[in-house]
Amino acid sequence: MSKLTGKVAVVTGASKGIGAAIAKALAAQGASVVVNYASSRAGADKVVADIVAAGGNAVAVGGDVSKAADAKGIVDAAVETYGRLDILVNNSGVYEFAAIEDITEAHFHKHFDVNVLGLLLVTQAAVKHLGEGGSIVNISSVVSRITPATTAVYTATKGAVDAITGVLAKELGPRKIRVNSVNPGMVETEGTHSAGVIGSDFETWAVSTTPLGRIGKPDDIADVVAFLASDDARWLTGESLIASGGSR
Ligand SMILES: NC(=O)c1ccc[n+]([C@@H]2O[C@H](COP(=O)([O-])OP(=O)(O)OC[C@H]3O[C@@H](n4cnc5c(N)ncnc54)[C@H](OP(=O)(O)O)[C@@H]3O)[C@@H](O)[C@H]2O)c1
Repeated sequence: MSKLTGKVAVVTGASKGIGAAIAKALAAQGASVVVNYASSRAGADKVVADIVAAGGNAVAVGGDVSKAADAKGIVDAAVETYGRLDILVNNSGVYEFAAIEDITEAHFHKHFDVNVLGLLLVTQAAVKHLGEGGSIVNISSVVSRITPATTAVYTATKGAVDAITGVLAKELGPRKIRVNSVNPGMVETEGTHSAGVIGSDFETWAVSTTPLGRIGKPDDIADVVAFLASDDARWLTGESLIASGGSR
């Protein structure tokens, strides 16, 4: 039997990039998956089609995680479609870089609304349905350890994600719900392409500081998330697993 057979998962921001790979990895292990998207309906539909073509179960559900009603709708879709919820992966995220002189209120609120408030709102909706054996995986970043220049706001959101992971591990542990984070190093995704990271000096620097000698692929992260979601990780909670080819 596959490791997630009979489980139901919500993956936020699964229309592309790391989230899409996570949705496929969980489905490949037998989970039925809610593939959330904010603006990329076509991307989410493609992820669902790929999962179904491989013999899995998935449904695309739109919603902005930073809006409480949408967050509840994303979670409710799992329960309405598949009857339960076992796994939540808080993957939705935005990242833009700005030197201290260039930080604006809009830059701050955009990042904290999606990366922190959104994670809290979806988790709040999910904990109504998660029972014993439930697993929450938050996608943080290695930036919370390496604190790169010009990333004060983005890095602050991921520091908050690490802190929330620790707090909720304690808060939800008595209910036998585990809460962990995966902290990727640089990964080639639609997002890092459109941010101009791929092909830049920043990518060259990232490779040079990575013992395994390359940047990550979405599947490198997805397999770690699938492990944390599964019973193989039953004794792990409150952990932040750095998945970065050794960069830290
Ligand atoms: N790529 C990296 O190098 C890297 C490294 C460390 C950590 N991370 C983290 O990994 C996560 C995914 O990154 P990525 O590179 O795969 O990003 P990406 O390619 O830009 O994809 C971002 C995803 O988040 C969704 N999203 C954005 N705003 C949302 C909102 N308000 N509500 C719901 N979904 C929303 C997008 O949905 P739509 O497209 O439908 O709008 C998309 O599915 C992020 O949390 C990021 O901080 C990435």
